[in-house]
Amino acid sequence: MLTNKTIVLGITGGIAAYKAVDIASKLTQAGANVRVIMTKSALEFITPLTFESITGNAVVTDMFQTNAEHRINHVALSEIADVIVIAPATANIIARIACGMADDMLACTVLATKAPVIISPSMHTNMYENSITQENIAKLKERGFTIIEPSAGRLASGGYGIGRLPDTEVIIGAIQQTLGKSGNLKGKRIVVTAGGTQEDIDPVRYIGNRSSGKMGYAIAEAARDRGANVTLITTPTALAIPEGIKTVTVRSALQMKDVVVKATAKADVLLMAAAVADYTPKTTAKQKIKKGAGGLTLELVKTPDIISEVKGKFLKIGFAAETQNLLANAKKKLASKGLDMIVANDVTSKGSGFGTDTNKVTLISKDGKQESLPLMSKREVAEKLMDRVGKMIGKKR
Ligand code: CTP
Repeated sequence: MLTNKTIVLGITGGIAAYKAVDIASKLTQAGANVRVIMTKSALEFITPLTFESITGNAVVTDMFQTNAEHRINHVALSEIADVIVIAPATANIIARIACGMADDMLACTVLATKAPVIISPSMHTNMYENSITQENIAKLKERGFTIIEPSAGRLASGGYGIGRLPDTEVIIGAIQQTLGKSGNLKGKRIVVTAGGTQEDIDPVRYIGNRSSGKMGYAIAEAARDRGANVTLITTPTALAIPEGIKTVTVRSALQMKDVVVKATAKADVLLMAAAVADYTPKTTAKQKIKKGAGGLTLELVKTPDIISEVKGKFLKIGFAAETQNLLANAKKKLASKGLDMIVANDVTSKGSGFGTDTNKVTLISKDGKQESLPLMSKREVAEKLMDRVGKMIGKKR
């Protein structure tokens, strides 16, 4: 996805400039050609040598640089960029861009480019909330710039408020989303469920399962990065909410069903990667259940089978998490639940199933086509799935 993409990373003079090292490093590791431009103020916080060592490319700091190795036409980077990202972006660079200024290499590159530009504002809360900055941001949004909302937390000034540079994953997520806008799922509406449902016993206890949500999140991100409009319906997990994906958090199977029904009303695809409880306590105690002398018996009732019950013209793709008779059980579910495809997953096999970063699955489609994939990362599994989804949508139309 990021391989061989040229990403111009603009760094301006905010304390979060040091975090740009991580962004440059992760993008380079992902195969991108990272070209860094630093403003004069950024040089007060961090040196070009750091970025040159990480990216393997010369860092541009001056429009009139004459050193032969660094010599670069003032619009050269604007032309080769697949995307320009400014992180951190100070109030000053935002104002200069909003005014159409070209008074340093970064502003000049942004003004000259036809590539998409992503801006990640990071500054003191008061500067961010100042109506002048807000107006500048609104103007840039209107002109098609992508603005990443800063996060809230402890600020360098010691206070607490909005203005922090978001985590690297969020910024890279925005880059992937921008680069994927013309992918094979462009404009398709894809609903993904993830995580394990939680069925309340009382106000402090629930029946859960060991699903981490990783497979569902990987699918949601892969679909986003191919231009899809993704809704992720997730139970609480330890994973960061992905950038650019509409996310709804639910807990129980019943809540998940309600949200899935609404979200699929106009969907093209439903992918149920969530591990949904088959049973829920018949009643939820209003108060914490106290320990008694004997044992405790819970009466459980069936939950709705969401993927079977939700109706519509969209493609239905389910997962079969099995511990035995993988393919036979998966095929049975494919037929009984009326699915277009099922992803069969032996959760007991090494490197596969709950909590792992890898998975080994077999894709079985309605027409009997069966493809066993080797052990690969959950993101790679998601990419394979999205290849198939792209083809299946094409056929359905
Ligand atoms: N599923 C669902 N609603 C449920 C249970 C499961 O929508 N109440 C979906 C899952 O999200 C998955 C597929 O059905 O996509 C298969 O889930 P799985 O737990 O493997 O199958 P079950 O039908 O629950 O059968 P069993 O637990 O007996 O294996």
